[in-house]
Amino acid sequence: MSNKAYITTPIYYVNDIPHIGHAYTTIIADSLARFYRLKGYDTFFLTGTDEHGQKIEQAALAKGKSAKEYADEISAKFKALWDDFDISYDCFIRTTDENHKLGAQKAFETMFKNGDIYKGEYEGHYCVSCETFFTDSQLINDEYCPDCGKITTLVKEESYFFRLSAYQDKLLKWYQDADDCVMPRAKKNEVINFVKQGLRDLSITRASFDWGIKLPPSLNDSKHVLYVWLDALVNYISALGYGTDEKNFSYWPASFHLVGKDILRFHSIYWPAFLMSLNLPLPKHIAAHGWWTRNGEKMSKSKGNVVNPREVTEAYGLENFRYFMLREVPFGQDGDFSQKALIDRVNSDLGNELGNLLNRIIGMSGKYNNYELDSSSVLKFYEKDISTAHAILKNVESYMCELQTNKYLEELWKVLTIANQSITIYEPWTKMKEGKIEEVSAIIALTANLLAKVSILFSPVMPKTAQNIAKSLGFELNAKSYEQLIINEGLLDKTIITPIAPLFPRIEKELMSTPEPAVQIKEIKKELINADKFFASKIQIGTIVKAETIEKSDKLLKLFVDIGEEKPRQILSGIKVYYDTKSLEGMQVCVVTNLKPIKIMGLESCGMVLTAEDKDGITLITPQNVKSVGATVK
Ligand code: ME8
Ligand code: MG
Repeated sequence: MSNKAYITTPIYYVNDIPHIGHAYTTIIADSLARFYRLKGYDTFFLTGTDEHGQKIEQAALAKGKSAKEYADEISAKFKALWDDFDISYDCFIRTTDENHKLGAQKAFETMFKNGDIYKGEYEGHYCVSCETFFTDSQLINDEYCPDCGKITTLVKEESYFFRLSAYQDKLLKWYQDADDCVMPRAKKNEVINFVKQGLRDLSITRASFDWGIKLPPSLNDSKHVLYVWLDALVNYISALGYGTDEKNFSYWPASFHLVGKDILRFHSIYWPAFLMSLNLPLPKHIAAHGWWTRNGEKMSKSKGNVVNPREVTEAYGLENFRYFMLREVPFGQDGDFSQKALIDRVNSDLGNELGNLLNRIIGMSGKYNNYELDSSSVLKFYEKDISTAHAILKNVESYMCELQTNKYLEELWKVLTIANQSITIYEPWTKMKEGKIEEVSAIIALTANLLAKVSILFSPVMPKTAQNIAKSLGFELNAKSYEQLIINEGLLDKTIITPIAPLFPRIEKELMSTPEPAVQIKEIKKELINADKFFASKIQIGTIVKAETIEKSDKLLKLFVDIGEEKPRQILSGIKVYYDTKSLEGMQVCVVTNLKPIKIMGLESCGMVLTAEDKDGITLITPQNVKSVGATVK
């Protein structure tokens, strides 16, 4: 029996077409799946689309289509993109698939039978864009979503609840016992802190619209559809046949659920709790990566600042793009997309280090050795170089298993450096003049072997490039050569090198004319208001007496603003990125002073400072001349 690996991406919402954020998750997952296949694991790789819920219903409506029609169209776009990108998925699931529906109903029914579901009434706020419920205290300014900033709606309806509160201690125990269950570590700690604050039972059905999976027939309640996150999470087991044909169920539990950090909570809290209720084993790793940003802002369909993955690959090539994404950003951190960074990676890492090495090997072997590759004297002359390389290669796999793809590639490139340097140091041209043919042949074989070993290990990231190199160096890239060259630390068999065209022609200039992200002018179509409504807000001049950063917030600053009251007011403002605290002290600002105090991250904020925002960022509004504190702004 071989080892099994089960790797998943999130199933993407079909409210709009894919962007490079989605491509990023999918490409990491694809590389991981290829890595496990290379290592001989029986691997199942799942991706797909998430098609129910209010958000999709609304998006379809806006396009004048039925939800199903719209879902079909966008789902096909995701699938076509992954096919064109050679994503090696084993199953593309759609939550509108019949088998998925049956699986989701079976899960609901089982949790119900196990006593974890009860009927009640839900009252609270709902963000359609995030498909998430929020309590009053979580909202920003009483009505805005703390995650995406959009306005929430108030929901009051009959609902079934999942007893999430009953799983708090079990979840905490799991986080404690299963060390790498949530990756990376910093994110795991955030999850633990969140759970420690207490879990409320979760509303898991919706009664006010239809676009969802019906409750299982045994409940005999046609008013409700499943909450879209319950529906969606179950995809990870319904895809293996849960509730229908369980022949693939032996892949469960998942080795890796790859997700973006935006949806880690659903995966690391709700999902394991559901699984516990279903008496199923928990996933081995839930791994959350950071965001791709444009000019520091999260790239998202709703913000309209997305980069189209097809445009990138048409301009720069798929494998270059894959390498860039996995090499550029440490897993878990955000990365700003820029063509310049991509071009630098291609020209230096790929062109100079990798492509040139192959060219030099081809050149040397042609010039000095009739394109022959013979490893028989490598160890006699260059044992040390080979063993230094083996020491690196031996440790490198653990980086991939920890999803530190940037480290993985960085380490592999160290071996390329050894190869490149060995040519400079050992000077085959001099040896040739001295008639040391055996040594020259050994240098060629040394460098070819190092390149072959590195290519095998980067093949999960750049499969075609690795195959091309293997062809040129005359070996087959497969599980057998992996075993021979990596596991057994052996050398290439005697063969002939075949010249090929340079793999990474230099890129001289930006090849994509991406328009700068559209400035978001959100026209909120509200009715005109009377002046009295405007004057209901009291705006006064204040002087910032002190500004402090807030631990854990990368957006907010804590301001103390003198508006002529007994003591300065504490006001939180999202300007951290644009100002340093020292420069703010003494600055005059406009303050809305009659707002109800609110709490943000546990800190009270009494008022709001006025700012203006455009594509360059946020600036404070200040009076043109110094005014006395407390002066009215009209
Ligand atoms: O959340 N940077 O779907 P979704 C990096 N249907 N990755 C990004 C990204 C960005 N700027 N934007 C999106 C959903 N992603 C649910 C999931 S799973 C049971 C249900 C990636 O279409 C990232 O993986 O909003 C993120 O988690 C996912 O797309 C969200 O896709
Ligand atoms: Mg999203």
